[in-house]
Amino acid sequence: APDISLANVKAHLSQLQSIATANGGTRAHGRPGYLASANYVKGQLDAAGFSTTLQSFTYNGATGYNVIADWPGGDPNDILMTGAHLDSVTAGPGINDNGSGSAAILETALEVARQSLQPAKHLRFAWWGAEELGLRGSQFYVNNLPAAERAKIKGYLNFDMVGSPNAGYFVYDGDNSDGTGSGPGPAGSAALEQTIQDYFTSIGVPTRGTDFDGRSDYGPFIAVGIPAGGTFTGAEGIKSSAQATLWGGTAGQAFDVCYHRACDTTTNINDTALNRNADAIAYAVWTIATAVPPV
Ligand code: PHE
Ligand code: ZN
Ligand code: ZN
Ligand code: ZN
Repeated sequence: APDISLANVKAHLSQLQSIATANGGTRAHGRPGYLASANYVKGQLDAAGFSTTLQSFTYNGATGYNVIADWPGGDPNDILMTGAHLDSVTAGPGINDNGSGSAAILETALEVARQSLQPAKHLRFAWWGAEELGLRGSQFYVNNLPAAERAKIKGYLNFDMVGSPNAGYFVYDGDNSDGTGSGPGPAGSAALEQTIQDYFTSIGVPTRGTDFDGRSDYGPFIAVGIPAGGTFTGAEGIKSSAQATLWGGTAGQAFDVCYHRACDTTTNINDTALNRNADAIAYAVWTIATAVPPV
C-alpha cells in the first residue's frame, strides 16, 4: 500500500480552510461554504478520472449534497465504499471535524488514480452532507439505494476526526471485543477492524476500540447489515492518564479542545495522527480491494 503524502492531505485542509474563511467561517449544511467544499472535492476527483455524482437532498429547508465518486473497474457486485462527512458545524470551519477525514480519503482516492489501480473490488468514495444534523446525507444515500444496489456493497469504511490535536488511536470496535458498544456490528465488521488494526500494529502504534454505536455515518450502513469499520482520534472526551502513557499527549484534556468550535482551524491538527491515519486508510483500501476474492 502507498505512503499517503501528509503534505497533500494538508493542502486539501488549507483549501477547505480558505473556503470557510471566504464564506463566513463555516462549511455547514445549507451555507455556501458547504457547496464550495463539495465542488472542490468533486473537481479534484473529476480531474483524476473518477465518475462523480453530486447527490442532492433537502433537510431543514436547505439543500444538502453528497459527493459520490466511483473508480471505473473492479467487480461491480463487490463494492468497497469509503466515506467521510464533509460538512462542519455552524460555529466553525470544521478542519479536524471533518476536514481531516475528508482530506485523507480524498488523497487516498487520488492515489488510486495516480497508480491506475485495478483492484478486484469496485471502489466507491463518498463525502457526506449534513452529518452534523443527524447523519442526514449518509442516511439519505442508504435510504435511496435500491435493495439490489445495497446488496453489492460488501463493506463501508468511515473516517470522522482523524487528526485530533491531543490524539488517541481508536478503531471502531466492530466485534464489540472491548465491550464499549451496544453489540457487535454486522458480520464482516470484525475483519475490517482487524485489517485496520494490522496497519497500526505494523507501525508499532497501540490502538483501543471505540463505541460502534452509530455516532457517525457508518450508522445507516450497519443498520441495514453492511459491515463497517473506521478510525477516530477523539472528540470531546478527556484523555486519561493511562491513555497519555500509551499515546503521549496531555492527560486530563480533551482529545480535541476545539471540537465543534470556531478554533477548529488548520492549527487544530496533529500532523502525526493525521499522517498515520491517512496511511491506515490507504492500507485498508489497498488490502481489502486488491485481495483475491474467494472462489
Ligand atoms: N460524529 C461526531 C461529530 O461529527 C464525531 C464522532 C465520530 C464521535 C466518531 C464519535 C465517534 O461530531
Ligand atoms: Zn461534529
Ligand atoms: Zn464529525
Ligand atoms: Zn474489537
